[in-house]
Formats: sequence, C-alpha cells, structure tokens
Amino acid sequence: MSGPPTEGPAAAADPAPAPRVVVRRARYRDIGRLVRLYRNRSAASIHGYHPFPFDRFRLTLIYFSLISGQWMLHWAMRRFPRAVAILLIAQVEGRPQLAGSGTLRGVARSGEEPRVRFGFVVADGVQGLGIGKRLLWALAKAGLDLGYAHGVGVVFRSDSKAISAISRAGFRFMPTDYRDPLAPDEPNFATEGDLAEMVRLAQDYTPSARPGQARLSGYGGGPGDGTGLGTSAQ
Ligand SMILES: CC(C)(COP(=O)(O)OP(=O)(O)OC[C@H]1O[C@@H](n2cnc3c(N)ncnc32)[C@H](O)[C@@H]1OP(=O)(O)O)[C@@H](O)C(=O)NCCC(=O)NCCS
Repeated sequence: MSGPPTEGPAAAADPAPAPRVVVRRARYRDIGRLVRLYRNRSAASIHGYHPFPFDRFRLTLIYFSLISGQWMLHWAMRRFPRAVAILLIAQVEGRPQLAGSGTLRGVARSGEEPRVRFGFVVADGVQGLGIGKRLLWALAKAGLDLGYAHGVGVVFRSDSKAISAISRAGFRFMPTDYRDPLAPDEPNFATEGDLAEMVRLAQDYTPSARPGQARLSGYGGGPGDGTGLGTSAQ
C-alpha cells in the first residue's frame, strides 16, 4: 500500500479535517468527467480496475446506458435481478472533478439468492482518504433499498489498498479460483458483504482527520454528513 501523501512538514504535523465527500447517483452531465476519471489513471489503477473499454466513444456509450438504465429501469430492478445497474459518483465538496465512481450490477445464478456485484475506483490523487469505503457504503445502501441482502466482488490478493478499503467497508474474503482474463497471473479473493451490516457500519462512522488530508484543505467545503449515505440514492 502506498504511504500517506506528503506536502511538506505542515501536512504531517497539522492534519486538516476529513474532506467532506458527497456520493450521489451519476447524471448525464457527469459523463465527460466519468470518462476522464476512468481513462486518466495510473497503470496500477488500470491494472486493478478495467471493467470497461478505454476508447472514449464506447466508454461514453456505456456510461450513457448505465445512467439511462438506473433512471428508466428502476422500477424493474426489484423484480429482475439482472436489470440492476447503479452508477454512483463521489466528489469532494467544492472540487469540480470526480473523486471516484462505483457500480452495482445484478447477479442471478439459478438456485442462488440474487446478489449485487460491486465495482469501484478512486482517482489516484485522492486515494487513502476514505472515499473508496464511502462509495462502497453508498452502493450497499442502494442495493439494500432495492431489496438485496448481499453484495459480492473479486479483488486481487496483491491489491492491499483495495483489500483494506473493502474490509473496512465490511466485506468478508474467501478463496476463489477465478482469474481475471486481463490479469491471468493474479490470484484473487472473492468477497461477500451483508448490505444491512455495511449500512450500519456507515451510520456509526465518524470521519477523522489524517495527516494526508491537509492537501485538500485549500478547497472549499460545505455541510455534509461525511458518510456519503445521505445523498446516495437521489
Ligand atoms: C481500491 C480503491 C478504490 C480504494 O479507494 P480509497 O479511497 O483509496 O480507499 P479508502 O481510503 O476508503 O481506504 C480505506 C482504508 O484503507 C486504508 N488506506 C488505504 N490507503 C491508505 C493510505 N494511503 N493512507 C492511509 N490509509 C490508507 C485505510 O485503513 C482506510 O481505512 P480508514 O478510512 O478506516 O482509515 C483505490 O485504491 C483505487 O481506485 N484503486 C485502483 C482501482 C481498484 O483497484 N479498484 C478496486 C478493484 S476491486
């Protein structure tokens, strides 16, 4: 895991308050910023998260259809597990660019309880500030609101940052033989989370200051509950 960001001695000595993070449903006007967030990442981030193609045109179409689906098919998501398509964005209040995004997709295998599959990414410059965890909690709330009880995912065993965020959010880890076709050398953990338990963890969470957060102190903030839950489902 990378260490906390440093911006001179003041950053280490005098932690700023936790950044206020807003998590909400993506809208059409977010598409350009979603495309930039997805494409403008380090090689390490792309290695860990690459569910969509990288060419601008196809990516734009995918985000357009995900956003359309989450508004137009909302009525269907409770009845048809595979119709679940939720796309959330995270923003640090007062900053125009997106800090992260998260997706929920329905998984329905015959004979098994329908679940939601989590995906999430945080911009390289703002990782390690709790934004990933808050995205996971907001996704858990969206899944719970749709009537789902459990969420699942897959993570590289080598990805300590993602493992840290996922375990802090309340997921459990299990062995799996699954291999990502785009990273066949990476062994994985399968993850599973109880959505109600994750929402409870989110409600009990109080964002605390960390030395690395001082670098966000130059940006404006506004009222927010810090968990991101309050604004997740609009
Ligand atoms: C995985 C990812 C989304 C995590 O997002 P994040 O915002 O960096 O994660 P968080 O800050 O919420 O991490 C949560 C925990 O990890 C720890 N942590 C992670 N990085 C840290 C850092 N640089 N400094 C201090 N703590 C850190 C903390 O313990 C933190 O818990 P806390 O908030 O309770 O203290 C992000 O690293 C990312 O986008 N990676 C590339 C894409 C990817 O791998 N996606 C996931 C595929 S499964």
